[in-house]
Amino acid sequence: MSKIALITGSTRTPRAGDHVVNWVHDILKTRPSDNLTIEPLSIADFNLPVYDEPVMPALVPAVKQFTHEHSKKWSAAIASFDGYIFVIPEYNYGLAGGTKNAIDYLKNEWPGKPVAIISYGVHGGGKANEQLAQSLKEVMLMKVVGTRVELAFAAGLI
Ligand SMILES: Cc1cc2nc3c(=O)[nH]c(=O)nc-3n(C[C@H](O)[C@H](O)[C@H](O)COP(=O)(O)O)c2cc1C
Repeated sequence: MSKIALITGSTRTPRAGDHVVNWVHDILKTRPSDNLTIEPLSIADFNLPVYDEPVMPALVPAVKQFTHEHSKKWSAAIASFDGYIFVIPEYNYGLAGGTKNAIDYLKNEWPGKPVAIISYGVHGGGKANEQLAQSLKEVMLMKVVGTRVELAFAAGLI
């Protein structure tokens, strides 16, 4: 059985991201699988400060260790999954700071694992989607699903 994290990328309160994630989760539940379990995971729950480790994530765990509990907790949570679905907003034509910061914390928890990216925004959040895909593919060496979902808000709903 493979465990997939359904990640809420927005960290602000309140956030549209919770509603988008619930909607995506409800759709996924209509296609139950014997081989996959989907578990929601919210970046906001980890209360990550702006990256504050003295070590480079690329050196963990082979050369150095994380020093802060919040980093260890975030690292262990992400490492425990076999694959990921990111649900992310677009801020100012790019990745939201909270999502980017959470990505910056880790390196060796991701390689080789599959990841799908779902973005949302006024026009679907395509620029944030592209930025995250590039980082996860080129730096984290993940298998990024080729089809990227971009959900555009209906006019007046932001
Ligand atoms: C700081 C900020 C910047 C934003 N920039 C964009 C943007 O560049 N493109 C876009 O489509 N929507 C943008 N929006 C609108 C967001 O798509 C909308 O507020 C959405 O609810 C954000 O997701 P969240 O509530 O889950 O954080 C922005 C919103 C905020 C708060």
